[in-house]
Amino acid sequence: MGNGGRWRRRWVCALAAVLLGSVLPAQANGLTERGQALVEFNCARCHAVGKTDKSSHPDAPAFRTLSKRYPITDLEEALAEGISTGHPDMPEWVASPDQIEAIIAYINSLQQP
Ligand code: HEC
Repeated sequence: MGNGGRWRRRWVCALAAVLLGSVLPAQANGLTERGQALVEFNCARCHAVGKTDKSSHPDAPAFRTLSKRYPITDLEEALAEGISTGHPDMPEWVASPDQIEAIIAYINSLQQP
């Protein structure tokens, strides 16, 4: 009896931990790391997302070469609207603003001079 309050507090703590876990990395210098995790999860199936890997989809450009095609900032808009143009084989994925920030940071960090 009387245990309800304690359980509820525990649950709130768990929730806070989850929220912090998803917010803090973006503020600390983990932004690029978070972007890397996002593209590895969402894009690596087709695109090369690292410094030396090869795209597994023959038509998909390696992310490290994207700035040769257009400014990386253009990507921001495309991601916000959901990349579907030019993506015949890709399920549409609309990124949230903080996911976009992380992805752009990561792709920027990959670009070759
Ligand atoms: C199912 C495979 C697949 C997945 C998953 C995928 N892509 Fe692509 N992507 C392609 C292909 C194929 C092309 C080339 C399309 C073309 O040139 O007609 C492409 C092209 C692109 C381009 C270049 C478009 C242009 O106009 O040059 C960008 C940028 C891009 N993808 C970003 C992403 C991002 C970011 C993700 C993850 C959120 C992603 N893609 C996930 C298949 C995929």
